[in-house]
Amino acid sequence: MLPYRLLHLSEEFEGGLMSDVNVTVTSSFERKVFIRTYGCQMNVYDSDRMSDLLEKCGYHTTVVPEEADLVILNTCHIREKATERIYSEVDDFRAIKQKRFADGQSMLIAVAGCVAQAEGEEILHRAPVVDMVFGPQLYHRLPDLLERAGRGEKVVELDFTAEDKFASLPKASQSALKSRGRSAFLTVQEGCDKFCTFCVVPYTRGMEVSRPVADIVEEARGLAESGVVEIVLLGQNVNAYHGIGPHGRTSDLADLLGHLAALSGISYLRYVTSHPSDMSESLIAAHGSLPELVPYLHLPVQSGSDRILNGMNRKYSAQQYVDIIGRLRISRPDIALASDFIVGFPGESDTDFEATMSLVREVGFAQAYSFRYSARPGTPAARMKAIVPEPVKKERLAALQGELSRQQWSFNEAFMGRVLPILLDRNDRRSASGRLGGRSPYGQTVYVDAPASLYGCVCPVRITGIRPNGLLGVIDEVSSPFGGPAL
Ligand code: SAH
Ligand code: SF4
Ligand code: F3S
Repeated sequence: MLPYRLLHLSEEFEGGLMSDVNVTVTSSFERKVFIRTYGCQMNVYDSDRMSDLLEKCGYHTTVVPEEADLVILNTCHIREKATERIYSEVDDFRAIKQKRFADGQSMLIAVAGCVAQAEGEEILHRAPVVDMVFGPQLYHRLPDLLERAGRGEKVVELDFTAEDKFASLPKASQSALKSRGRSAFLTVQEGCDKFCTFCVVPYTRGMEVSRPVADIVEEARGLAESGVVEIVLLGQNVNAYHGIGPHGRTSDLADLLGHLAALSGISYLRYVTSHPSDMSESLIAAHGSLPELVPYLHLPVQSGSDRILNGMNRKYSAQQYVDIIGRLRISRPDIALASDFIVGFPGESDTDFEATMSLVREVGFAQAYSFRYSARPGTPAARMKAIVPEPVKKERLAALQGELSRQQWSFNEAFMGRVLPILLDRNDRRSASGRLGGRSPYGQTVYVDAPASLYGCVCPVRITGIRPNGLLGVIDEVSSPFGGPAL
C-alpha cells in the first residue's frame, strides 16, 4: 500500500518501455491494424491481447482506419442497440475498403467478439464485405485465420475450444501499458454458467473457466515490472473465480487477491463484475483486511422485486442482497457501492418497480448503470409474454436514474475538502489547459489542474468541486508525497 507515493512516468520509464518491446516480426512487410472495441472491459482486454499477437505478425496498430490493412470490430451483443450499431459501422468500413481497392490497396474486415459468436454466418449474409467472423474464445488463432482470409477464404470460426487461449498468447504487459498506462486489466475468469433469463453472455462467452493462480500472478508481476500500479481483475462473474492454486488446491477470489496484493509495486486492486450469489464471507472479509483492495464494489442487483429476480433467474432475494451489503459495510464501512439495474423486464408491474426504488433508497449507491430491458434472441426472457411498453420503461428509467443521480451527488459531496490519492492517467480532452484526469479509490473520476509532468503519478489531490460527471481537485501541496494520511 502506498497511498501517496509519487510515481513518475519518467523518460527512463518511457524509453525503457519502448525498448522493452521485444517483437519478433515474422512477416517480411509491415502492415497496419485498426481495432475498434465495444462492450465491457473484457473486450478491451481482448483487443489489447489481439494487438500484441498481431504485432508479432508484423501488424502495427493505427488509429486511422483509412490506412489499415486489417480492421477488427471487437463487438458486444448485450443489448439490441449494441448489435445494430455494428452493422451500420461495417457499412462505414465498406466505403473505406472500396476506396482502398480503387487505390490498389487491400483491406480485410473482421467481426470478432460477442456479436460474432451470436450471429455467426448471418453476418456474412447481411454484410458480405466482412472477411472474417470469429468468437471471443478463438482470437489466439488469428495468425492462421488471417492467412486463410488472405487467400480469399471467408472465415467463420465460432468453437468454444478446450485449448488454453491465454497460454497461446504473448505476454500482456506491452498492450496493457499501451492502452491504459498505470492501470491494467487482467482477465482471471471468463464465461458464465448462471443463465439469467435476459442475458446473452453464457451463449457468447461459453461456460465459466478460471485461469490458474500461477499464470495470473506471473502476468501481474510482468505488469508491475512495467510500471503498472493498479490491476483491475476481470471476469463475467469474477467473484466466482476458483482457479488452481498452490499445491493443486483451489483458490477463490479472496485467496487470489491476497497473492496479488503481496506483489511489490501493486498498490491498488479492483475486480469487476460480481454476482451477489458468489459474494463469499472470505471475500467480504478481504475488503476489511487487504489495504490494496480499493473501497469500491460493483455488485449488480438488477431489480428490487423478488418476483422479478425470480423471473430473471438471479438466485437471490432483495433481502439477501441488502444483507450482503450490510456485511460488506461492517467489513469496510466507507465502501462505495455500484450496481446495475434493468427496468421493464417482462411482467414488471408498478409495485415491482417501486420495490426497486425502495431497495435503492435503502442501500444508497455511489454509482449505477441502469438499462431498459432489451429482448435478446435465443434467451428465455425473449419468449416471455407480459411485455412492458417502451413508454413505461422510459418513465421508470427516468425515475430510477433521477434517484441514482441524487445518491451519486450526495456520495460525492461528502468528499469536498478531503485529500485522496489519485492515479492521474488520463488527459482531459475537453480542457485546453491540459487538465489531467484520474480515478479515486472509490471509483470516482477526478479532474485535476496539474502539470502534464504528473501524468502517470499517484498524487494527493484535494477535492474542490463536484460536477455531474465527476469531481474537481487540485494537487495538495501540504500532503507529503511519500506519507500523508492513509485512506
Ligand atoms: N455478470 C454481470 C453482468 C454482465 S452484463 C452480472 O451478473 O451482474 C452487464 C449488465 O448489462 C447487466 O448487469 C445488466 O444490467 C445489463 N443487461 C444484460 N442483459 C440485458 C438485457 N437483455 N437488457 C437490458 N440490460 C441488460
Ligand atoms: Fe449474464 Fe447473469 Fe451471467 Fe451476469 S450472471 S453474465 S447477467 S447470465
Ligand atoms: Fe458485451 Fe460480450 Fe462483454 S456481450 S458486455 S462484450 S461479454
